[in-house]
Amino acid sequence: MKILLTGGTGYIGSHTAVALIDAGHQVTLLDDFSNSKAAVLDRLRDITGTAMDFFEVDVTDEVGLEKVLSERTFDAAIHFAAPKAVGESIERPLLYFKNGVGGTVALLQAMERHSICNIVYSSSATVYGMSDDLPLREDAPTEVINPYGRTKLMCEEILQDLHQADGRWNATALRYFNPVGAHPSGLIGEDPQGVPANLMPFISQVAVGRRPVLQIFGDDYPTPDGTGIRDYIHVLDLAEGHVAAVEHLASDPGYDVINLGTGNGISVRELVDAFERVAGVPIPTEVVGRRPGDGPASWADASKAADVLGWTARRSLDEMVADVWRWQSQNPDGYPD
Ligand code: UFG
Repeated sequence: MKILLTGGTGYIGSHTAVALIDAGHQVTLLDDFSNSKAAVLDRLRDITGTAMDFFEVDVTDEVGLEKVLSERTFDAAIHFAAPKAVGESIERPLLYFKNGVGGTVALLQAMERHSICNIVYSSSATVYGMSDDLPLREDAPTEVINPYGRTKLMCEEILQDLHQADGRWNATALRYFNPVGAHPSGLIGEDPQGVPANLMPFISQVAVGRRPVLQIFGDDYPTPDGTGIRDYIHVLDLAEGHVAAVEHLASDPGYDVINLGTGNGISVRELVDAFERVAGVPIPTEVVGRRPGDGPASWADASKAADVLGWTARRSLDEMVADVWRWQSQNPDGYPD
């Protein structure tokens, strides 16, 4: 298949590009580098042995999108491009609605003009809100707890409406749990700008000496060790879930939402312990108060992905940590400018 990846140089987009090429597909990447670096393209070429077909375009730029879709043919798009920081979304909601929702609408309009009606959408387990009905199934009630989550839910609903209005549209929204890890080459990985908002990149920056201590946001949750539990999934498993989803769209069209997680919950302390053991590096920690908006525990019911897509996550927690550590120790300051 010929597949357009918006946000193709981002953390999940870049790993999905590798997985798609490994599976024999052709990819075109689109990104505006608002949260990624051009060096990713060199690294992808080194991993795949193929120069990337790339357009520097902001996904809200209708003229830019039109140019890409006029110059290439595509069977499907996988739409990653969107801002993704919960805290920033609370401070700057319009940025999230313009880029997260507006960018999706602009992409769908461009696709419609070119009769490309297959899309896999980057959604998030954040649409389950603070639900404690674990494991989280796709038919659990959704709840918006911040503007970022609202953009994800709104885009899911837009895709559902589009499919209902015109049966030619096929869309799968993938609800990601907590992606971590990196390509085993150590050439590509997660490179957050500024202070990492997420646990794993924070731990790896402490490990490499960029930050002195990991703050644990609360050890008084109703969990076995008191720290928050999440479903961490290796980014390459997640990437392979996209390959399965985009191939499935071609054979079984319609609209669907599918969790991508492992089905296993890991606590903050368990993740820190695994990192210290696998990387052999001490991680100083200090317990501070809970982060507003965090729930105690979240993990997926991963059975629908297995039933519908024939996909299950297969990489272990130790592989996640080993691959993060290889990436971070080979690139202590992330990608070069
Ligand atoms: N945590 C710490 N210290 C840190 C960072 C995180 O203790 O410095 C804890 C959090 O309290 C939580 C766990 O580590 O218990 C995981 O936190 P992350 O920020 O890595 O992940 P979240 O589950 O909070 O958020 C992620 C995505 C969001 C998405 C959400 C639900 O980052 O975009 O999952 O899908 F909305």
